[in-house]
Amino acid sequence: MIGLNAYRIVVEVDVDKKAVIHDVDIVGLGDTVVKESKKRVKSALKNSGFPFPRGRITINLAPSDIKKEGSYLDLPMAVGILKASEVIQRDISNYLFFGELGLDGSVRKIRGVLPALLRLSEESEKPAVILPASNEAEASIIQNIEAYTVRSLSELVAFLNGSAQKYPIVHKEPEFKHSIVEDFSDIRGQEFAKRAAEVAAAGAHNLLLKGSPGCGKTMLARRIPGILPKMSLEEAIETTKIYSVASLLDGKGLVAERPFRSPHHTASTTAIIGGGTDARPGEISLAHNGVLFLDELPEFRRDVLEALRQPLEDGQVTISRARLTVTYPARFMLVAAQNPCPCGWYGDKSHECTCSWNDIKRYNRKISGPIEDRIDIFVDMPRLEFSEYSDRRKGESSTTIRGRVEKARQKQYFRLKPLGKYFNSQLNHREIEELVVLDSTGVKLLESAVEKLKLTGRSVDRILKVSLTIADLEGSERILPRHIAEAIQYRKRDVNF
Ligand SMILES: Nc1ncnc2c1ncn2[C@@H]1O[C@H](COP(=O)(O)OP(=O)(O)OP(=O)(O)O)[C@@H](O)[C@H]1O
Ligand SMILES: [Mg+2]
Repeated sequence: MIGLNAYRIVVEVDVDKKAVIHDVDIVGLGDTVVKESKKRVKSALKNSGFPFPRGRITINLAPSDIKKEGSYLDLPMAVGILKASEVIQRDISNYLFFGELGLDGSVRKIRGVLPALLRLSEESEKPAVILPASNEAEASIIQNIEAYTVRSLSELVAFLNGSAQKYPIVHKEPEFKHSIVEDFSDIRGQEFAKRAAEVAAAGAHNLLLKGSPGCGKTMLARRIPGILPKMSLEEAIETTKIYSVASLLDGKGLVAERPFRSPHHTASTTAIIGGGTDARPGEISLAHNGVLFLDELPEFRRDVLEALRQPLEDGQVTISRARLTVTYPARFMLVAAQNPCPCGWYGDKSHECTCSWNDIKRYNRKISGPIEDRIDIFVDMPRLEFSEYSDRRKGESSTTIRGRVEKARQKQYFRLKPLGKYFNSQLNHREIEELVVLDSTGVKLLESAVEKLKLTGRSVDRILKVSLTIADLEGSERILPRHIAEAIQYRKRDVNF
């Protein structure tokens, strides 16, 4: 795998039986994990009761200009050696093998099976595929390929020599369940914030929740994936590919629910953006088609916030390392939360804030610039009054809210299709000018907001985009003054920070 792209590797095994020194050489740009295969393959063969050929064994991994990483080549190497020592007798040129080996000869799960098989399914002349049994669920998503699972090296040999039962992978129609465990109806009060979350979900707008400790910011954020539209098969496959490469599928077939990722604020840039020695996807790609929740936003490292800028703009991330550059999708809805100040109580009616004005300023300034510019909706969440908290009436369910969000998304889909976009939040200045038409009352309303709140041109664009989403939620073809009035409320009010 390079990023999400699969390449076919040919493993050639040559045994020089006359050589005096018995050794195994692996050539063809393998990383340290590939080099260690030598030991795994040797033990696996011996412990499965197969002979290990004497002499000098040279294993060549072609093409030699692609760097090979990981343990998935264990199985093909073992098969090559077994073929060279004639334990396997049949022609195996029409097979593809994937799998890591345990020292006992067991065949273990590898990462990246889904993207590899997807790529294979597009080829006209397809070889049959042999896979670890633990990768079965993800392989069963693919149609039109001939694939079999094996649990051990001896099972594989018996299979190839025609003396064992075969375990073909049967294609399964992926199951789409949208299990809402944490429901919107659990949230008491906070009507303004709930409505803002609905608008944000409808237009895929990024959202910042600000409020004192315990007011329900985390609670609300966790419930946002449940009000987003169900994933399409295409989206689910895109997201599953990323989880497959990150080896986070945990035996699941399809990631059919929108992901919710909430990395801790101490997480490294690599963990969040992606990278490391094998250029793995980071949290922003694991949140692809779902929600990235950054709790305690001002506590995140400055370089992490800076690095988020590009992916937030492009919906993808490019990771460059010495030898290769990979691109992963990273289109997510950003939901961020923060306290109003370091102690958490600034602006609260009943708690005194102990922070100095400078502390408050510094705290809030940390997010200005890179991230703030990309947030469309700002919400202040007050502390819950006891009467609200003790009110046992249930609010609207996530399913009801999702119904409205899906309708609004549909309107956007048809409007934005010609532009190659999906959500109102993706509109640029020129497109906003073209698509968002206000009547004279609307224009006046906006004008006075610009003056009173000292809004920048950028803020005005955001208000217009959000107004469009609010109109879409209502099913209105025109943007009415009340839609603009609501959108103005979602702008940041404490502009002086
Ligand atoms: N509006 C609410 N309705 C129902 N329960 C709530 C509400 N707000 C808070 N709670 C309860 O309080 C707990 C803490 O809320 P939550 O973790 O969402 O607060 P928070 O705003 O994220 O706080 P912090 O700033 O400390 O992270 C929740 O698990 C929930 O039980
Ligand atoms: Mg919290």
